Amino acid sequence: MSETTHGQQVASADELRQLSAEERMVAGAEADGIHIVHRRDRFPVRGTKAEKRAERGVALAFAISALAGVGFIVAFIAIPYQWHLPGTPQNFRFYTPALGGLLAIMLVFLGVGLVLWAKWLMPEEEVVQDRHDTPTSEEDSLMTEATFTVGLQDTGLPRRGLILKSLLLAGGAMATVPLVALVGAMIKKPGTQLLHTLFTPNKKLFPESGGLVPIVYSDFRKVTPADLAPGGIATVFPGVRAENSDGYNGVTDASSPTLLIRLRPGQQIKSRKGQSTFGWPEVNPEYVAFSKICTHAGCPASLYEQQTGRLLCPCHQSQFQVLEDAKPVFGPASRSLPKLPITVQTGADGRQYFYARSDYKEAIGPGFWERP
Ligand code: FES
Repeated sequence: MSETTHGQQVASADELRQLSAEERMVAGAEADGIHIVHRRDRFPVRGTKAEKRAERGVALAFAISALAGVGFIVAFIAIPYQWHLPGTPQNFRFYTPALGGLLAIMLVFLGVGLVLWAKWLMPEEEVVQDRHDTPTSEEDSLMTEATFTVGLQDTGLPRRGLILKSLLLAGGAMATVPLVALVGAMIKKPGTQLLHTLFTPNKKLFPESGGLVPIVYSDFRKVTPADLAPGGIATVFPGVRAENSDGYNGVTDASSPTLLIRLRPGQQIKSRKGQSTFGWPEVNPEYVAFSKICTHAGCPASLYEQQTGRLLCPCHQSQFQVLEDAKPVFGPASRSLPKLPITVQTGADGRQYFYARSDYKEAIGPGFWERP
């Protein structure tokens, strides 16, 4: 016998080596001031029907958890998630509930499996423990090791292959789900959808203008130069009535809002390279059009101060100097508002109407990872 660092009388290391793992574990518990008040193996006879039933019940809970994890990954990839403007078909509404529901099922059944495993299969045990605070002796180490060995045997994992496999499945699914959520958003690339707007010329829809898209108000009335007083602005859209595959038309598509601005007499635009002819008239333009979508975070930038030519975005106070091709001059936006090339054609009624000469030459809105 020897004395532990906690002052308890325990068997020596040699004596301990003679004991079975369970006896060593009990000795270790006693030496550490842990008194096992009650300990009972739930299935003293191995392999009974009742034991197998309990094992299958636990494995079933883990399997459901694993299936829910797989379901989460499938739902993340397959269920439509795009939000559409009000009044257009919405098909994203099952996305979040499905993800939340499957995640809940995965966690709940993993928890249920663990609880059932402890309740149905692991030995029933009741212990009382004293608290110590001195370092560990060799005897203590041996007994602690034995405690872990018996603990592992108690779980039944070495001989319960079904539970082990189903637990690994559930654990694997649980480890994968956060990865899917984190990495998946990067896999879902936007393709080229962020590089085009409905101002793209379309000969099928607008043969009379040679494919140029008319510029309209939100009620599809065409915009004429006479609509704007000097210094005035208007929010305009591409006059595409047909809905695209996402259910948007020229007015409802999020990339459409554009500001048409009529300069005051004497105001001149200092254009960026290659964009000097984007206004109307092409030389000394009086009308210019810029995307209304702030290049910082996508709010509508529409507070226009006509005397100074400054355009303010109300969200984070970015300011754009219209007379310098909407260059950012204040606030967090770092990129000029894209400029829409415009022109005017005379309609069958003899009146002049605005048209987009082409799509924007730059991606509209906030920066994104693959913006050219
Ligand atoms: S969205 Fe315009 S300043 Fe932030």
